[in-house]
Amino acid sequence: MKNRIVIFDTTLRDGEQCPGASMNLREKLEVARQLARLKVDVIEAGFPVISDGDFEAVHTIAKEIKGPVIAGLARCVAKDIDAAGQAIKPAGKRGRIHVFLATSKIHREFKLGKPQDEIVRLAVEGVKHARSYVDNVEFSPEDGSRTEPDFLARVCKAVIAAGATTLNIPDTVGWAVPEEYGALIKYLYDSVPEFQSGKAVISVHCHNDLGLAVANSLAAVRAGARQVECTVNGIGERAGNAALEETVMAIKTRADFFEGLTCGVNTREIVKTSRLVSRMSGLIVQRSKAIVGENAFAHSSGIHQDGILKKRETYEIMDPQDVGWGQTELPLTKHSGRAAVAVRLKHLGFKMTDADVAAIFARFKEIGDKKKFVYDDDLSALVEGQITEVIETWSIEYLSISSGNQTVPTATVRLRKVRGKDADIVAQDASIGDGPVDAVLKAIDRMTDTCGKLMDYSLRAVSQGKDALGEVTVKVDFGDAKLFTGKGASTDVIEASARAYLNAVNRFLANGNAQVKSETQP
Ligand code: KIV
Ligand code: ZN
Repeated sequence: MKNRIVIFDTTLRDGEQCPGASMNLREKLEVARQLARLKVDVIEAGFPVISDGDFEAVHTIAKEIKGPVIAGLARCVAKDIDAAGQAIKPAGKRGRIHVFLATSKIHREFKLGKPQDEIVRLAVEGVKHARSYVDNVEFSPEDGSRTEPDFLARVCKAVIAAGATTLNIPDTVGWAVPEEYGALIKYLYDSVPEFQSGKAVISVHCHNDLGLAVANSLAAVRAGARQVECTVNGIGERAGNAALEETVMAIKTRADFFEGLTCGVNTREIVKTSRLVSRMSGLIVQRSKAIVGENAFAHSSGIHQDGILKKRETYEIMDPQDVGWGQTELPLTKHSGRAAVAVRLKHLGFKMTDADVAAIFARFKEIGDKKKFVYDDDLSALVEGQITEVIETWSIEYLSISSGNQTVPTATVRLRKVRGKDADIVAQDASIGDGPVDAVLKAIDRMTDTCGKLMDYSLRAVSQGKDALGEVTVKVDFGDAKLFTGKGASTDVIEASARAYLNAVNRFLANGNAQVKSETQP
């Protein structure tokens, strides 16, 4: 057993399957760039057959991102494997196809209606087909943790003989507990000679339905697994996947227990990555979340503070700087010029065109007039506003609110139609509502001829101080198959709400080819 753990990041595939987390191409690309800076080993960039948008994202990431292996997911079906093979082609030798097929009794009998022999035959056929595109093929027996161990070992041997080099054992429904899962991995390690010889690698992919995803992954590496599939902030289907930052920091911090296991992640990029993923996915990180939550290193009790001052290790098992906390630069002000803003954007890791910088600089000036300091987080929020701007159909021109404890909240909103039929018309409407936000949203609905149901609304201060930029994230149901996320930032929270809602409306209107085909989701 070698000591290096391969970190396989599936934020852009399993993470993106989280309801309301879908990202556009620009957002995925920014996340992929940051994952490369984080130095993950593998980026699972998407499920190419699902939609043209997914294909495009995997293809673009394979073309643009240097460093990590780029993987595309496929069912054991020729058209899926062909799509994945085409999508990862620009990555050349760094391309991987990840093929999956369910193996558990419950899936065989009720979902697939196929006997064991047929499952083995299909798995082998799928892996061979994938090998016609690339040498690097991963196979996942879906619901692996609930599959009979002897059948699982048989599947592993058969697909390895067919050319699979990584065998992923998913705990698809988050059913496993650490001791049992570790024992399963050990059983497979001991039963399959190719795992012992290093010809094939055992991977684990744990879901968090019982809150055990990281614990299960760690039990598995102790038992012989050498690849961990995880997501930034633990986002993913249902309760999410094993959190990358927790897995990596457990291995690093408890190197004594994990007997020298290592991984290549640049941990100082963790906080930055977490924030970017939170922004791009619209999924807020809870304050007490390990490693990346705002409170992860905040000590409020006097006894703890006293201990920390005397010796940090009394109450702190990790150095916050090791995961990237406390790396803030001097804030910009309204006097900062465009070049300074461009340099800071580059430093933050964003790859911006001149047009992007110009648009961000215009918003920076508006905000700089209203608040004294513009922090890195403020700037990142503006970047996000720029890159989430899906093809805009409507843009906001003017907003006025009348509200108070003795007044019926009233909003007047002016929008400009920037594309499609009647492009360039200006619409203005006023509406009353249950509160100022409700009044604004009603006015927007009327002018854009949409009828969104607000399923989730969150507001957070991007940076410190009373004049902090407020960032609003909404999830809206327009009666389509999926929820649309919208984000907006401003020093005025009503304006931020209007921008976020209009961002969701624009995503909905531009959605034409981005329908989720739910029957293909694993
Ligand atoms: O959870 C799961 O089983 C998956 C597979 C596609 C690996 O996501
Ligand atoms: Zn999964």
